[in-house]
Amino acid sequence: MSSSKPTEPIIVAVTGASGAPYALRLIKQLASVGITQHILLSDAARVVLKQEVNLELPDAPIATTASLAEHLTIDPASIHCYSSKDWFSPAASGSANISRMVIIPCSMGTLARIACGASDNLIERAADVMMKERRQLILVPRETPLSPIHLENMLKLARLGVDMIPAMPGFYHRPQSIDEIIDFVVDRVLNHLHLPNPVSKQWGDA
Ligand SMILES: Cc1cc2nc3c(=O)[nH]c(=O)nc-3n(C[C@H](O)[C@H](O)[C@H](O)COP(=O)(O)O)c2cc1C
Repeated sequence: MSSSKPTEPIIVAVTGASGAPYALRLIKQLASVGITQHILLSDAARVVLKQEVNLELPDAPIATTASLAEHLTIDPASIHCYSSKDWFSPAASGSANISRMVIIPCSMGTLARIACGASDNLIERAADVMMKERRQLILVPRETPLSPIHLENMLKLARLGVDMIPAMPGFYHRPQSIDEIIDFVVDRVLNHLHLPNPVSKQWGDA
């Protein structure tokens, strides 16, 4: 894996697994520490965003960026959204030198296509780039129960150096709200990116 500076841009991809609030929370937290984000949304992610948080995003990338920034009350200059076939975007090429990517939440479909090297959309292509360039790729898979195919794909990717952070919140910190449950998972991602979460509780905190 290549080393990266904490403030370098990050690719945040959102797929159609359940867990859209995790993605929104991560994007908000990264924006709050001044990190530029390249945001990739699958078609299914848009369906799930509408279902889970009642957020309907427009198709055009510039309008998507504005709408997402408004929803999250973050600076629109800190995020850049792209269409799913924008092969000229920075995420599509190793030469853009983006060293970190998170797929949150990651569907079993996207996970399977990454595991077999298919790159039919920008999310899969960007993940392919991360792996071929030996850069940091974090997946936050979500499904239950998991079939042998899901487990084999996860094992394959984990053995290739992909960080597997399943959306499996713990309860030993006694969460009092859904936000605290969401933060539990997002904290793990931020830890792996070596970034702070100002609201996180550490192991041993009451
Ligand atoms: C409300 C909703 C929840 C879903 N939850 C999951 C899930 O948790 N995990 C999963 O793998 N797929 C889930 N799916 C199915 C995926 O969206 C579907 O397989 C889709 O093709 C994934 O496409 P993508 O990988 O390009 O985002 C869900 C779909 C909907 C509409």
